[in-house]
Amino acid sequence: MFRLRRYRYYVFFAAIIVFLLYRASTNSEEWKSVSASIPLRKAPPKSPPPRGSEKPPAAGNDGTRFTHQDDDLSQKFLKGAPKEADVKIPNLKPTVAEEGVDKHGRLPTVTKGSNEGSKVVVYDKEGAAKTTTAPLIDIPDKNVGQGAKGAGKGENPDPKKVKPNAATTAIHWTKVPEHFPIPKGEIIPLPTGKPEAIPPVQHVFEKESASAREERRVRLAKVKAEMVRGWGGYITYAKGHDELSPISKKFRDPFCGWAATLVDALDTLWIMGMKDEFEEAVLEVEKIDFTTSSYRSEIPVFETTIRYLGGLVAAYDVSGGKAGGYNILLEKAVELAEILMGVFDTPNRMPVLYYNWKPAFASRPKRAQGSVSVAELGSLAMEFTRLAQLTKQDKYYDAVARITDAFYEWQERGTTIPGIFPEHVDASGCNRTAEAEIAAKEAEYNKVDEAVSGSSKRDDLGGEAVSGPGESPGGGFSDNAVSRRSVNKVSRFTNLASGDKDKCVPQGLAPGGWSTAEQYSMGGSQDSTYEYFPKQWLLLGGLEPKYKTLHTRVAAAVKKWLLYRPMVPDDRDILFSAKINTNGNPEVDASTEWEVTHLTCFIGGMFGMGGKIFNIPEDVEIGKRLADGCVWAYESTPSGIMPEGATVVPCAEANNCHWNETLYWQYLDPLYATRNQQIDEYQTKLKELKAEKAQKKEHTSDGVQKRAPPPVKMTTPNKDTLTQVARLEDALDINAGSRAAAAAAEGKADQAPLSEANDEAEFPELQRPISHEEYVKKKIDMDRLPPGFVSASSKHYILRPEAIESVWYMYRITGDTTWQDKGWKMFNAIVTHTQTTVGNSAINDVLSPTPDKSDEMESFWLAETLKYFYLLYSDPNVLSLDEWVFNTEAHPFKRPV
Ligand SMILES: *[C@@H]1O[C@H](CO)[C@@H](O)[C@H](O)[C@H]1NC(C)=O
Ligand SMILES: *[C@@H]1O[C@H](CO)[C@@H](O)[C@H](O)[C@H]1NC(C)=O
Repeated sequence: MFRLRRYRYYVFFAAIIVFLLYRASTNSEEWKSVSASIPLRKAPPKSPPPRGSEKPPAAGNDGTRFTHQDDDLSQKFLKGAPKEADVKIPNLKPTVAEEGVDKHGRLPTVTKGSNEGSKVVVYDKEGAAKTTTAPLIDIPDKNVGQGAKGAGKGENPDPKKVKPNAATTAIHWTKVPEHFPIPKGEIIPLPTGKPEAIPPVQHVFEKESASAREERRVRLAKVKAEMVRGWGGYITYAKGHDELSPISKKFRDPFCGWAATLVDALDTLWIMGMKDEFEEAVLEVEKIDFTTSSYRSEIPVFETTIRYLGGLVAAYDVSGGKAGGYNILLEKAVELAEILMGVFDTPNRMPVLYYNWKPAFASRPKRAQGSVSVAELGSLAMEFTRLAQLTKQDKYYDAVARITDAFYEWQERGTTIPGIFPEHVDASGCNRTAEAEIAAKEAEYNKVDEAVSGSSKRDDLGGEAVSGPGESPGGGFSDNAVSRRSVNKVSRFTNLASGDKDKCVPQGLAPGGWSTAEQYSMGGSQDSTYEYFPKQWLLLGGLEPKYKTLHTRVAAAVKKWLLYRPMVPDDRDILFSAKINTNGNPEVDASTEWEVTHLTCFIGGMFGMGGKIFNIPEDVEIGKRLADGCVWAYESTPSGIMPEGATVVPCAEANNCHWNETLYWQYLDPLYATRNQQIDEYQTKLKELKAEKAQKKEHTSDGVQKRAPPPVKMTTPNKDTLTQVARLEDALDINAGSRAAAAAAEGKADQAPLSEANDEAEFPELQRPISHEEYVKKKIDMDRLPPGFVSASSKHYILRPEAIESVWYMYRITGDTTWQDKGWKMFNAIVTHTQTTVGNSAINDVLSPTPDKSDEMESFWLAETLKYFYLLYSDPNVLSLDEWVFNTEAHPFKRPV
């Protein structure tokens, strides 16, 4: 799924800047060609007009074609399935803050309480309900003394709005010789042997009651109706293109124009029994030419892998593999994979993540970038592994196994927060610090050389001129000093990754970017790398223990550093995962964003499934609370849909957490103390002025002219702070309120309406500052914050799947039907606000009861969101988690038996 959106521009520019820095630091002719491989982004030309006729969406919502035997739905039933118009969706009421919350309670203590396990009902393998003691959840207390640091990230522009390039090109990718091939004998083979006995993931479901079955089937049919309409809209208005624009009935091509929605939806069509549509789509797949694109000069490797490669491989798997007869799906997967293999042709075999596929560029040597996102680097594993299994070609596995090995080595070597990785990774394999040290040393030597010989030197070993700051032009060669330098050079340059002429000082993966700041979270740009560790372990039948180790350490780090319980009005026992910023010493300098982001919602499923397969009951419990966190976030908004990104208040103790409105207000207004102080000062000053005036009145009776009172200067000791906060908030666009407060502090008269209006009129020079209470009320009102939310910096919803994904995992893992009910509320809210006549659209503001639609339907709506909803109400044996494992785009791959 598209978890990288918010950071894509940043990553892109970071990559360019790092690359330019790198280029500036090296002077080798050999690598000059690499500059050509920088991804180009042309100004997007206009979108082509909508396709000709305005014919209605394809029929097919009568469900008569439902023939899939895996499900228990009969064709008969589906004939009676409600049509689009029959779907009546009730509006959800926004959650209202509980009355009577304690405003005068104490601060949560930071001492760890004894945490007794709570009684919960669980279902054992035999399916018998019994009461048991839930495993203890032991996450450390949080240092919550950083109230002001909970601000959410700002929105980045959507980099996906790449429009078709009018200039079509006849250029095709062609296979080029590798520069850094792996010797035959060193290709890492797929692990072989009998798969491990892995504990079952799924609950053993009992036979359901007739009424439960009936309700489930009604829901299932409504989910399918959305798929039928969306698919019909796509085929009618956007067939062959990447995405349908579901309001304008046009299309967009952000993913090279290879029919992303069509490929992404293949397995969903099959699972839902839309076999005719599936076959029509397979015919379209045949026509896709992955060797060219008139829309993009570089292939986004991560998106292409998870959507296209994953989609093709999964469609092949679910349709029966070899026996299914849709061999074209595997053939096209191989065709695409062969192109993508070019990205691994680098000195350290780490991939280039934006692949300039045109032969003129693809044929040149290249390096992986110095700042890539963890997610993009680590989320290729499953797709290439499954392809290797299906084709029995170890090279596909080798390509991704080397990335895993690099992560494994890095985790062992140690990161700033042990177990997890910083968001930006230097995958280049070259140590710029060491290179800079060498360059500095060389400059030193050159100085010495000049002092000795009075001329510039040539670096014989590297074959390159070595310039020092004091180099005199036109100087000749001198042998005097070279020998001394050469000794040093030999010892410095024997370890080159790719030949003598390259100044690369090799290293493994390292923090990327150019600052020392590192970010750690489970959110966008990081997420799916973590998601893939346990899933890859399953896909390999438990035969590669590195994945288990990787996951175990990740889970431990997440529990220790990131998980927190938010303070919410009904004291619900839920969890979220935070984001930590550190400059390298997190025990001391970590600052935490108590974020709630839709992308992070996947980790409920990750913890749940990890807990099952590695037999850690605590993790299953954590998974439930994480999934419930997102359920809460959905329930909290007027639309019933969770925002893309927000922040909340953390509890100091996960096991002792009570709503405290005073504390909530302090998070909403970190400057509460200053404000109260200013109000006090104001009152004092006002008294003084009144007294003064009263005195003067006596004087005027003497005939003395009335004087203006002496100018009163409000003490604003925190003006700088206020302005700073306002600037920050300006940048984040979260808070008009404190801007006003800062303006007031600067004397720009933006005062609150007052009961003391008379005073104001009387003493216009005395400006009344805004009080804490006024500020908070204004902020809640202006930002329309639901109770418990401190900010909601990204209010949109783009049809994302992560929340329902985790709800579905919890249902399949626990068998608890309340998850189906939670999912149903989500479904109704989403459909109510996103439905259009030909599909579903992203919306701009979930905090509005009537959000505007933004005319975008991501391919993951059909590939993931509707699939997870469908599987929540299908027979639990459809794509059982004990037989299938899903990639991050919800494409199911067959697990080995
Ligand atoms: C609520 O929060 C305020 C402000 O932090 C604190 O002074 C008070 O003691 C808290 N109340 C309780 C019951 O913890
Ligand atoms: C890069 O080089 C510096 C200086 O030689 C060294 O301290 C550091 O550990 C190296 N980094 C990696 C990731 O090897």
